[in-house]
Amino acid sequence: MTARQEQDRAALTLEVSGDGVAWLVFDRPDSRVNLLTSGVLARLDALLGEIEEGVAAALIRAVVVRSGKDGTFVAGADVNEIAGIRDAAEGEAAAREGQRIFRRLELLAVPTVAAVDGICVGGGTEMILACGHRVASDRPETKIGLPEVRLGILPGFGGTTRLPRLIGLREALGMILTGRNVDARRARRIGLIDEAVHPAILIRVATTVALDAANGRIKRAPRAKGIAARLLDRTAPGRTVVLRGARQRVLKETGGHYPAPLTALDVIARSVRAPLDKAFALEARALGRLIVTRISKNLIHVFQLMESAKKAAPAAAPAPVLEVFVLGAGVMGGGIAQLAAAKGRAVRLKDIRAEAIGTGLAHAQRVFDRSVAKRRIDAREAVRAMARIAPTLGYAGLGSCDLVIEAVVERMDVKKDVLREAESRSRPGTVLASNTSTLSITEMAGALERPDDFCGMHFFNPVDRMPLVEVIRGRRTSDATAATVFAFARALDKTPVIVKDGPGFLVNRILSPYLNEAGHLLGEGAEVQAVDRVLLDFGMPMGPLRLLDEVGLDVARHAAEVLFAAFGERMRPAPALAALDLTRLLGRKGGRGFYLYEDDRENGVNEEIYETLGAAVPPHRSPVDAEHVRDRTLLAMVNEAARTLEDGIARNAGDVDLAMITGTGFPPFRGGLLRWADSLGTNALLSKLETLEGELGPRFAPAPLLRELAAANRGFYG
Ligand code: NAI
Repeated sequence: MTARQEQDRAALTLEVSGDGVAWLVFDRPDSRVNLLTSGVLARLDALLGEIEEGVAAALIRAVVVRSGKDGTFVAGADVNEIAGIRDAAEGEAAAREGQRIFRRLELLAVPTVAAVDGICVGGGTEMILACGHRVASDRPETKIGLPEVRLGILPGFGGTTRLPRLIGLREALGMILTGRNVDARRARRIGLIDEAVHPAILIRVATTVALDAANGRIKRAPRAKGIAARLLDRTAPGRTVVLRGARQRVLKETGGHYPAPLTALDVIARSVRAPLDKAFALEARALGRLIVTRISKNLIHVFQLMESAKKAAPAAAPAPVLEVFVLGAGVMGGGIAQLAAAKGRAVRLKDIRAEAIGTGLAHAQRVFDRSVAKRRIDAREAVRAMARIAPTLGYAGLGSCDLVIEAVVERMDVKKDVLREAESRSRPGTVLASNTSTLSITEMAGALERPDDFCGMHFFNPVDRMPLVEVIRGRRTSDATAATVFAFARALDKTPVIVKDGPGFLVNRILSPYLNEAGHLLGEGAEVQAVDRVLLDFGMPMGPLRLLDEVGLDVARHAAEVLFAAFGERMRPAPALAALDLTRLLGRKGGRGFYLYEDDRENGVNEEIYETLGAAVPPHRSPVDAEHVRDRTLLAMVNEAARTLEDGIARNAGDVDLAMITGTGFPPFRGGLLRWADSLGTNALLSKLETLEGELGPRFAPAPLLRELAAANRGFYG
């Protein structure tokens, strides 16, 4: 037996207790999680054979499936195995095999019970769907879901088939098409599980259910459903309405860029009334088709980036952060305070102006209200969390804080003063961090007695929605400091990426030439919407000019100036953007920029913009060539990304891609900026850049790294 086979064997065990209950226990010895690798599935198949024999010999009266791990049940299939499948027939066969084994579980002649404690997703959920009864612990760690579409595939071990049959079409589509998990309470409400119980009694309850069922004392109670649900799920016209609505929602949410949810929808539409074997066949074939697509491979790549980023923490023990002191109650300070309070931290929010604190608190309250409206947290928890934010005009309480986050105005002198003041009132060991978006961390550290305890912690706006946090190491930042900030960002459910100090750090530096190129295009006579449309079609969440409005034209201008000063000609602001200087336009927050805004909503292009910018843009708007716009804007980013790698700002291509996805919404289905670049090939990129350099000037001069890679016929990912 190979080591791997031995591990697979140990990952799932069977034990029959005196009362005739067979316990199938998932507990992979060498891992934090239980995965349904092909080896573990084969092991399950073999154990089902033993169970069948035990049943035939009247030694086994019921089966309970559970996990031996605290807080995780079964976390789905092995993503590396999914990534390795290159052939549709192989994918279809893998699905057929999973379906066959779960069907074998379903057809056991004795009752089967799943006892779910902790995360249960993907294949784990498909397995419990094949059980006759499902009970789960009601702790927060327990989440049940089918996230397959997020990897560009669909639930292919019977999930697409069984879930609609169990909980109805509407609820099943809600889970399968979005990949969202549900907690135990919700799972109980929609009929996905039979009971949600305290974790301490889960095993006892599961045993009772198993024995009662074996003794014929449990008839599956028909779930009471509202009349609307019955009409929609159980009649043909009702189902048509549900399917049509779901299709519209998917198209709206994905912009049509993600084939998996649409395929899942088609499969379900065709299979929901079909006999099981036909439904399974449809599902497996669709899985085979999806699993080999470039989009699925890209999404899996992004998933793997996320996973490896969690392990990229600096090599030092992080200090616990329970109390946080936030300096500056503006847009960012208010957002950071809200987030830290939502995650259970005690927060002090300081400003020098009382009305600023009022605005910061009001902002935090709005974010909590939204979370309550979206049922992400309950109203009482929101009140408790809000109460954890203590506003202050002074430094009271700073002495007991573990972390100070500075988010005052973007001025070096002010920041130095504020940080020095805070440092002098903090106890040794307190970590200090700045949320600056453009200023040098190393220079700021020069004002401090303890520069080792200081680093950048750069959140993105809006704080509650943007996942990225750049953890910026200055020259003196210690490993322990970076580790503490990294761990705290993770505790806030953010995606930290470690970057080296340098103008614009990572994301803003790469974004800047992209935004600037949109300005050049505008100056050459392209229309606002035409430029933005091209990038939207590429998959960006919004076009570059719309993004400038969102960032704030004043903030963007300031950042552009800093980068121009640092990098010279290639970052010289486009004339049309420079001309904005003379206007009072602020973008969204001021109600007008490239677009108009009303009640915080975009309300069409600001048609006066062309006139406002006067000589900087010609009066006749010319049609744009989509490929040209795409090349200019996107290759400008790729080229700058190459330079950040040369400068050691980012550690590797994976970090660049992760940061761009989580910090700018760069489309995950493209796999990331540099993965997308690799798909074009560095040689092709190089020749495109050379052409652009010839046409438009030295700002497109290819980065040396790109030349090297092209010469070696290699990509950014090696
Ligand atoms: P803001 O202007 O909304 O808020 C700054 C706050 O700091 C104001 O309320 C001001 O009264 C306060 N303040 C000024 N001096 C102070 C002092 N000595 N002590 C305490 N409070 C003081 O600015 P915003 O947008 O929140 O930016 C704050 C920081 O975050 C800046 O460094 C900015 O570059 C950075 N940042 C901003 C982003 C954005 O999109 N707005 C994104 C990421 C970072």
